[in-house]
Amino acid sequence: MTGHRVAAITGSGSGIGRELALACAREGMALALADIDIEGLAATEALARTLGVPTFAQKCDVARAGDVEAFAASCEKVFGGVDWLFNNAGVAVLGPAWTATDADWEWVLGVNLRGVANGVRSFVPRMRARGVAARVINTASAAGLATLAGSAVYCASKHAVVAFSECLARDLEQAGDPIGVSVLCPSLVPTQIHQAQRSRPAHLSDTVEPAAAYNDRVRLGMAASPIDAADVAAATLAAVHAGRFYVIPHVQTGGSIRRRMDAMLGDFDAQHTGVP
Ligand SMILES: NC(=O)c1ccc[n+]([C@@H]2O[C@H](COP(=O)([O-])OP(=O)(O)OC[C@H]3O[C@@H](n4cnc5c(N)ncnc54)[C@H](O)[C@@H]3O)[C@@H](O)[C@H]2O)c1
Repeated sequence: MTGHRVAAITGSGSGIGRELALACAREGMALALADIDIEGLAATEALARTLGVPTFAQKCDVARAGDVEAFAASCEKVFGGVDWLFNNAGVAVLGPAWTATDADWEWVLGVNLRGVANGVRSFVPRMRARGVAARVINTASAAGLATLAGSAVYCASKHAVVAFSECLARDLEQAGDPIGVSVLCPSLVPTQIHQAQRSRPAHLSDTVEPAAAYNDRVRLGMAASPIDAADVAAATLAAVHAGRFYVIPHVQTGGSIRRRMDAMLGDFDAQHTGVP
């Protein structure tokens, strides 16, 4: 209970999560930081402290419902509740769809999709009980709006995050709660996501090393990005203030979305209107 508005951010020990945290701190928000990487968390916390806002950090594996529940309980205890929840932690595997192992599916869906669902289950009822305006911001990806080769497991997880977020927004609207939802869909920006295997649990280590070309494509894509993680965070906060649902920071994502929608509607029209 600090008098500050409060942002809780998962995966805030690195990359986009760290920049989201710092952007919130620059707005004067208190920070609740969560990650499995405690060194990364400490580094983010040190940066945030230079901005003069109250912070606390907690080790939390978002794939574990008990960890997320404990994080939500700490947020309530330390700050009295959360105004903005960023379900941001995420990991990726690369390679053709047919090489994905059970462990790949369990790990990526566990963090990317169940992690978001765990956040919603632990935080949203607390937000509803508090009754003040709040927002849930789920990090999906441009890979949740379009598709690309070599990313079937990641794309499937991120499309699921977009669908889950759309349903969440409808549920909250129907319930009449003052809780908004946004879904963040960036294209590639330079972060540590290409080294996501660093946080992979030992019991889910069974995977097929992707051909070097897949990793090269990601590295090149990151290097070519006209914007960085701080720009993504700034675009996210601007969208949150504007009450926007889809946050799509890269201008080139529009073309990918249009091509996918055109393909879908092209096939639909061919079946229903006789247009070839
Ligand atoms: N960087 C990109 O190009 C890009 C593009 C689109 C979407 N995204 C998404 O942005 C989000 C952040 O990724 P990033 O690019 O900043 O990568 P990053 O690897 O730099 O940061 C991800 C953070 O999540 C943490 N994390 C991993 N597994 C976790 C778990 N089980 N529980 C808690 N924390 C965990 C990591 O320790 C790390 O600190 C992810 O959801 C990612 O899918 C990234």
